[in-house]
Amino acid sequence: MVQIFAHRGFSGYYPENTMLAFQKVAEETAANGIELDIQLTKDGEIVIMHDEKLDRTTNGSGWLKDYTLEELKTLSVGVNVKGFFPRQTIPTLREYFTWLKTTNLITNIELKTSVFEYEGIEEKLIGMVKEFGLEEQIWYSSFNHYTIAKIKKLMPEAKCGLLMDTWLMNVGAYAASQGAATINACSFFCCKEGVAADLHAHNVGLQAWTPNDAELMQELIDAGVDVLITNYPDIAAKVLDR
Ligand code: G3P
Ligand code: MG
Repeated sequence: MVQIFAHRGFSGYYPENTMLAFQKVAEETAANGIELDIQLTKDGEIVIMHDEKLDRTTNGSGWLKDYTLEELKTLSVGVNVKGFFPRQTIPTLREYFTWLKTTNLITNIELKTSVFEYEGIEEKLIGMVKEFGLEEQIWYSSFNHYTIAKIKKLMPEAKCGLLMDTWLMNVGAYAASQGAATINACSFFCCKEGVAADLHAHNVGLQAWTPNDAELMQELIDAGVDVLITNYPDIAAKVLDR
């Protein structure tokens, strides 16, 4: 069964990576899970934010890593989104986990360790997952495959996805060699003939980001993807007749 993950929460209609966008997934969609991005503050707190810089989505500026959590909590998130929403702040992963425990949603946590490595983020993350008892609900992904290797070392049974945004060959053998559960690839790559079959032959799944229209979603389903990571889980649900 193809699964639907809401990319950065229900970000098609609500400010991305906010508690509002996450709660709306549970309230308004048939999604199986949520994809979100994590970074580390100056004082070592894991927070949920896509960009390394504050400028696009908040009323702050500069690198997130140069601010403490207390400083970051004074900022408003969603300044890039039209519409009237209750004021949102940058969520901590701890806040998110507290809420997630009240749901059955899977969460694909993308570790944003490609620009800054955020040394120690993997240990902090795994520690918090265990503290909350969320081992079954959390999946992991990163464009930095060294990060995934660290996660696998800390938690061998962790369900990990290797993110990629280019046209590679023989990814099934590569993913299997890394103990990855999935390849999480840009949509255009997933549609390439034979990719899903190669992965499935290696017992590896395929997550596709970020199809946002029905036609592309259908193409991806026909191509054999296992997970659609989309800003519009409502459209995906219609395509999948849920
Ligand atoms: O995890 C899928 C997707 O989120 C990867 O790209 O830039 O949206 O984090 P990005
Ligand atoms: Mg992401």
